[in-house]
Formats: sequence, C-alpha cells, structure tokens
Amino acid sequence: MIRFTLALAVIGVTFAASTPQIETNPNLEIIGGHDANIIDYPWQISFQHRLHHFCGGFLISDTWVVTAAHCIYEGYSDTENLNIRVGSSEWSAKGKLHDVKRYITHPQYNITTMDNDIALLELALPVDLNQSVRPAKLPVAGQEIPDNAQLTITGWGATYVGGYNEYTLQVVTIPTVNINVCQSAITNDTITNNMFCAGLIGVGGKDSCSGDSGGPAVIDGQVVGIVSWGYSCADPKYPGIYTKVSAFRDWINEETEI
Ligand SMILES: *[C@@H]1O[C@H](CO)[C@@H](O)[C@H](O)[C@H]1NC(C)=O
Ligand SMILES: *[C@@H]1O[C@H](CO)[C@@H](O)[C@H](O)[C@H]1NC(C)=O
Ligand SMILES: *[C@@H]1O[C@H](CO)[C@@H](O)[C@H](O)[C@H]1NC(C)=O
Repeated sequence: MIRFTLALAVIGVTFAASTPQIETNPNLEIIGGHDANIIDYPWQISFQHRLHHFCGGFLISDTWVVTAAHCIYEGYSDTENLNIRVGSSEWSAKGKLHDVKRYITHPQYNITTMDNDIALLELALPVDLNQSVRPAKLPVAGQEIPDNAQLTITGWGATYVGGYNEYTLQVVTIPTVNINVCQSAITNDTITNNMFCAGLIGVGGKDSCSGDSGGPAVIDGQVVGIVSWGYSCADPKYPGIYTKVSAFRDWINEETEI
C-alpha cells in the first residue's frame, strides 16, 4: 500500500498499489505516535492539492523540497494546483502556503517495484527561514543505515488503516530493521539497496501510514529516509519501507546544487 491519501481524500477508499491491503488493529495512533510541534521538525511540509493534504515532504533549502515520486505519479501532477504549507503543526492552518513551480521525479522511479521513490519540488518563491521553517540535514552519499537505530517519522497521515489525515502533526519513533530480516517478511516484493525498513516486528502498533508518504524519517538529526510503502500499516508481520536518501544524495546535488 502506498502511503498517501489521494483516494482517501477524493473517493473515500484506501489506495492500493501492487501490494495488497490487510486489515489490522484500528485502535492505533502516524500510528502509535503523539502530537508533534513543528519547531522540533521545522523541515516538515504538508504537500497539498487544491489545498488538501495528500503527502508529506521536507525542505532541503529555502526553495527545494524532497518528497516521494509516487505522490506525483499516483497522486497529482497538475503543478498549478500544487502547494506546500511550511511552518505549521497543522496542515490546514497557520504557517505559510507556497506555490510549486515545478517537480522533478527520479528518472528511474518504477511504479511496479517502487524503486527510486523520490522527487524534488522547486518552489515559486523562497520560504522565509525561521525557528519553525528550516532545511533538513541530509546524510552523505552512500551512508548506510544501521540496524536497530531509532528512526523518527513525522506526518499528518492516518492514525489507523483506512483512516483520515490528522489535523496536528504526529511523531513516532521505531527501530530500523535489518534488510534480510525485512526481505524475509516482505515476501512478494524486493527490498532494493535504495530502500530500508523500520518497524516493530512481532509487536506492530507503530508505523507510518496513508498520508505520511514523502515525509521525513530521521536518525540523529539527519533526514535519512522518505516514507514510501508497506503492506498495510503497523502490522506486526510487516515493517514499513523507506527510500534511502543517501542513495540519492548525488542526484539531489546534480538537480539542485544542494
Ligand atoms: C516562521 O515562518 C512561518 C511562515 O512564514 C510563520 O507562520 C511563523 O509564525 C514564523 N515563526 C516564527 C517563530 O517567527
Ligand atoms: C520496473 O521493474 C520491473 C521489474 O524489475 C521491470 O520488469 C520493468 O521493466 C520496470 N519498469 C520500468 C519502467 O523501468
Ligand atoms: C503474496 O502473494 C501470494 C500469491 O499471489 C498471495 O497469496 C499472498 O497473499 C501475498 N502475500 C502478501 C503479504 O501480499
């Protein structure tokens, strides 16, 4: 399941990709998280279509945002109706809305395998940087993700499978999962070297979900991951899958000079 809210917002059903949806415990808060303050995650943005939140993203400078390619390919690509909101813990109020001038999806993004799930948004006008509007620190090219590291994810996504967006930004911290362990759980799809996994295997209850797609996943103050996909959400059997930012550090630099 792709972790965005296009279909939820528009036609009221959960969007399914190549991966199936599996019902899980709905009594979960992101899932298993709590309210967050934008001051603590000032790179977080809400990516909006006609002023409706449908994906997350994060600032990497005052004019560039990183998000997931599937937010555009399977979401919205009509640039004139795309905005981001910066500097607010609420996706629908406060902070400031900015127009998106253009997007760049990764040329090797594969809609079937979800490989290379990364895109860049160039803003029409630069954001004013302050305490609640600040670019993320990125990892260096090729930097690996340690197993069992504390990964912090933020987003306005659903707090349960099939749920709606949250008004207030949510945060959750979950451990990263070894790629071989992850691959043995995600039996029907390939975890490539451009992805990594996080989740509480055997426990569940904490995860990113619909509407969190494109949002930041942080280890030690660096945004190392982008919320990408998973089987259901917060299921004890299935970790969530993230795009590995360090695999795209050179591409980001080529496109943005950042
Ligand atoms: C930072 O900028 C945002 C967006 O322009 C604004 O809404 C917010 O009040 C500012 N915060 C501070 C602390 O100045
Ligand atoms: C996506 O990946 C699949 C499986 O590796 C491959 O068969 C297909 O040609 C790829 N599609 C594109 C557009 O590269
Ligand atoms: C994996 O694929 C098999 C065969 O198509 C299917 O029966 C099973 O439900 C799939 N499992 C998951 C977790 O998607």
